[in-house]
Amino acid sequence: MSKQLHASVLLTLAAVAIIGCDSSTVITETESSSGSFEWDLPEGIYPPRVPADNPMSKEKVELGRYLFYDKKLSANQTQSCSSCHLQEAAFADHNMVGVGSTGVHALRNPNSLTNTGYYTSYSWANPALGTLERFIVMPITGDDPIELGVVPEVEDEVLARFDNNETYRKMFKAAFPEAENPITLEYIVKALASFNRTLNSFNSPYDQYLRGDADALDASQKRGLALFMGEKAECFHCHEGIHFSDSTANEKSFNVNQFFHNIGLYNIGGDGSYPEGNQGLYETTMLEQDKGRFKAPSLRNIELTAPYMHDGSMATLEEIIALHSNGGRVITEGPYAGDGTQNPYSSDFIVPKNFTEQEKEDLVAFLRSLTDTEFITNPKISDPFKEQ
Ligand code: HEC
Ligand code: HEC
Repeated sequence: MSKQLHASVLLTLAAVAIIGCDSSTVITETESSSGSFEWDLPEGIYPPRVPADNPMSKEKVELGRYLFYDKKLSANQTQSCSSCHLQEAAFADHNMVGVGSTGVHALRNPNSLTNTGYYTSYSWANPALGTLERFIVMPITGDDPIELGVVPEVEDEVLARFDNNETYRKMFKAAFPEAENPITLEYIVKALASFNRTLNSFNSPYDQYLRGDADALDASQKRGLALFMGEKAECFHCHEGIHFSDSTANEKSFNVNQFFHNIGLYNIGGDGSYPEGNQGLYETTMLEQDKGRFKAPSLRNIELTAPYMHDGSMATLEEIIALHSNGGRVITEGPYAGDGTQNPYSSDFIVPKNFTEQEKEDLVAFLRSLTDTEFITNPKISDPFKEQ
């Protein structure tokens, strides 16, 4: 716990620096591959980290945008990335769990891709997936569950669809001029990662309030903000900084950490278990104390991304505030019955907060102030095939 607290103090410092306090004593430059790429970010917001072997370019982002919305990228041409990551839902979707191109259900809820370039780990709980490039291979080629279904047997057929298309041939060439044959899965992943790094949202009423518009939040939202950032609700410990997640960093961050927390969503049989196959960090470490530990997702645009949690098992923001008021979720019947408030592995921050009705309303009102309507209508990141 003290390790977690210590790191969280450091991250708060980093987060303060992000919003503009230019303290060169805390922030040391890390390698940046932004090059001359022009980020569409407000002043004071640093770009996300970019791996040295995949520098940003306008051409790559544009190719990535086409690929993201193109059903040709699934084996049976029924799905694209945007089938499960809808712009109007802040690039999440409305299903409890992802449903792939062959109808197979995943165990987990599709994440929102709001500011996704800033995460230090990808998926709900997998420390091995530290970059977008590593993650994005999964929905394309993964076979358990099948998402886009580009398994080795059909890879050549899928690539030929792009190779036989004049527009795509030109776009791949422009995006990867150095490559002899850029129409490969490796370059498709790189272009998609570059596009994903442009899915940035910093114009919610909350942002406008931070930039000095005192009227951007109403009185209830301001009370909610104070609660969220205070020691009664303690939300900010995990939903920290400008991204509302402690597992984030930017190109200037001196410290890049991954965190996973248990919030007492389940306690099946009283031994801390979560539903089988979906036990968070435990699935990779097999350590009992890692049962139920997941990444704290950003809360930006949270109003648009229901249902919630790694398995989509909460339908409303009100249910989530009730969980925190009680210090966990109690499930009284069915196969997942158990008292989450007694989960032996839940974080020390998850204790009964006993919110008043007013406090509950204020917290929900604050969460709704994180909705950026410009982001979900921004034509630069919208479906290019709808323009034609
Ligand atoms: C069948 C639905 C589906 C499709 C198609 C799909 N995704 Fe996802 N996506 C998900 C689910 C479910 C998760 C959560 C995965 C997990 O934690 O196991 C996810 C997670 C992600 C994440 C991680 C975000 C985070 O916060 O960790 C990224 C990035 C992402 N998807 C990008 C893409 C891209 C790019 C494509 C197209 C190549 C794509 N997805 C196609 C369902 C889908
Ligand atoms: C101990 C760290 C921690 C604290 C404290 C915390 N959260 Fe979270 N929060 C998480 C994690 C981890 C998840 C994902 C859990 C899961 O899916 O099992 C989450 C999920 C959420 C979600 C749903 C996100 C989504 O995309 O589905 C909301 C909303 C939320 N938290 C709001 C809050 C609020 C409001 C507070 C304060 C009252 C708070 N959290 C306190 C770690 C925390």
